Amino acid sequence: MRKKMAITVLFLSGGMYFQACNKKDALPNPCLGVSYDIQYFKTESVGSSNNGSLTITSPVGDTISYQLNSAAFQSSPIFSNLAPGDYRIIVKNQKGCTDTTQVTVFNYGPKYAQVKQLIAGTGGIGGYCGPCHLNGAINGGKNFDTDASIVASWDRIKARAVDGLPTFMPEAPNSPLTLADRQKITDWVNAGHRQSD
Ligand code: HEC
Repeated sequence: MRKKMAITVLFLSGGMYFQACNKKDALPNPCLGVSYDIQYFKTESVGSSNNGSLTITSPVGDTISYQLNSAAFQSSPIFSNLAPGDYRIIVKNQKGCTDTTQVTVFNYGPKYAQVKQLIAGTGGIGGYCGPCHLNGAINGGKNFDTDASIVASWDRIKARAVDGLPTFMPEAPNSPLTLADRQKITDWVNAGHRQSD
C-alpha cells in the first residue's frame, strides 16, 4: 500500500503542480497546498527607456525569494529597468515550493504616461479622477480603469478636464486641474491621443 502511494506521488511529481518542489525524500509533499496570492505594484515602461518596474507586495518576508522569467532568484521583491513585454513572476519559499503569476509591462508614450498619472495617480488609486471614475466606479457612463477606456474618451476628457464644457471635471466642489496638468492633456491630444504618444 505504502509502495503504491509512493509510485503515485512520483508520477505526479512530473506534473506541473509538483515539479517546483525540491524535496524528494518525504511524504506528504511539502508543497502540497502551497498557493500564493501574488500581489504586485507595477509601473509601465515609458517611451524607449525600458524603465518599467515590478514590486511584489505579497508574499514578502525573509524566507521568500523571487525570480523573473529565467533570471536567478533574488531576495529583493523589486525588479526595475524592465522592457515592455510579458513576464513570469515566480515566488519561492524556504522549502523550495513555488508559485507563479503572469504580468505584462506595457509601453506608454511619454505624453500618455503623464495623462494616465494625472487621471489615475500612481498605481491607479489616486489622481484627479478617483474615486469617481476609478476602481470600478462609473459616473456619467465613464470608468477610466483601463488604458483603452482613457484612450477612447480622449475628447470627453479634454472637454471636461481642460475646457470645462459643459462644466469642469473633477466636479465642484473639487478643484479643477492645475494649468500645467491641463496642458499635459492638451499636449497628448495634439500629439494624436494614443497610448503610444
Ligand atoms: C467627485 C467625483 C468626480 C471626479 C473626481 C471626477 N468626476 Fe467626472 N463625473 C462625475 C459625475 C457625477 C459625472 C456625471 C455628471 C456630469 O457629467 O457632469 C461625471 C461625468 C464625467 C464624464 C462623462 C460625461 C461627459 O461629459 O462626457 C467624463 C468624460 C468625466 N466625468 C471626466 C472626468 C475626468 C477626466 C476626471 C478627472 C480629471 C473626472 N471626471 C473627475 C464625477 C466625478
